[in-house]
Amino acid sequence: MPPAHERPEVRLRLLVEHDAEWVVTTDRTAATALARPFGFDEQTLRSELAEGRWASDERFAWAVMVDGQPAGFALVDDLDRGDASVTLRIGPNARGRGVGREVLRQLADHHFSADDHLGRLTGRAHERNVPMQRVFNAAGFRMEARFRDSVEQPEGGRASEWGYALTRADWEAGRHRHNHHGYDLHGLTFEVEQTSDGPDAPGLAVKFLQEGRRTLARYDADHLAEGELAGILVGDLLRYRFVHLEEVDTGAHEVVGRGRARLQRRDDGRLEVIEQWSDEEGNHGRRVLVQRVR
Ligand SMILES: CC(C)(COP(=O)(O)OP(=O)(O)OC[C@H]1O[C@@H](n2cnc3c(N)ncnc32)[C@H](O)[C@@H]1OP(=O)(O)O)[C@@H](O)C(=O)NCCC(=O)NCCS
Repeated sequence: MPPAHERPEVRLRLLVEHDAEWVVTTDRTAATALARPFGFDEQTLRSELAEGRWASDERFAWAVMVDGQPAGFALVDDLDRGDASVTLRIGPNARGRGVGREVLRQLADHHFSADDHLGRLTGRAHERNVPMQRVFNAAGFRMEARFRDSVEQPEGGRASEWGYALTRADWEAGRHRHNHHGYDLHGLTFEVEQTSDGPDAPGLAVKFLQEGRRTLARYDADHLAEGELAGILVGDLLRYRFVHLEEVDTGAHEVVGRGRARLQRRDDGRLEVIEQWSDEEGNHGRRVLVQRVR
């Protein structure tokens, strides 16, 4: 796979009848446990494409062309409701090179300019689908909902999805093309690698959500629960406040504090966070957290 900084040429074109065969194959090969196949029937899809049913007032189907070759497809549904939904499928060989975010940017440009009644482009990502969460965030979509237990899991049980949207006002403000901040923590989880000062926090895992400079995270560890952190990221420096419950013999004890964390990228491409924290009881510490690999 070429390195991520070599951005490929991404172009959208309408799906036509003769695309049905590769779309059916790509539907199978691009599906994952977190994004199930649509299960198109080739004959039916071919006739629907021929009849123009995938380029209507209600829905559009786009071929994603990467360096001139079909690499996936994008579906836009519910256009007639003014609140359309987007679904992406990019084949495994084209992933991780910025195609997904560029597709969302081009979809926004096309549909908002073509249809004055379109108010919002929305989408959902499985709660463990970090690549799609990052794609939405990078293309200016804001996380605005959590749909609890909304998808059935192939292994049984149900999982939740995050809901994202780009509004017409966001699009007009060019939010879908802003690279507004240097570091993007959205969807990433960090684990402790080293504690150089203060108490250990075995099992600490910190999961971030980011919107521009505003940064939130949830965390827990072996002996602490329901940790919440909120701060502002300016350049490589995150200043934050936190609160969590520490399990002690007498029950749960609330701990409140603040910290500063510096971000940097390692040679292996992972992000690392060097943080210094202190709480209101006079405890403090310093540690290095590193991005969990997918
Ligand atoms: C989710 C999906 C559309 C993302 O497309 P993409 O072209 O890989 O998207 P991008 O390259 O713009 O961004 C994906 C992010 O995940 C990472 N990523 C995605 N696939 C990767 C892979 N195979 N290996 C390494 N990293 C990968 C990228 O590095 C990038 O992260 P970054 O922000 O740190 O650069 C694509 O992976 C896909 O089709 N997956 C299966 C179907 C699916 O999940 N659809 C979403 C439901 S709507």
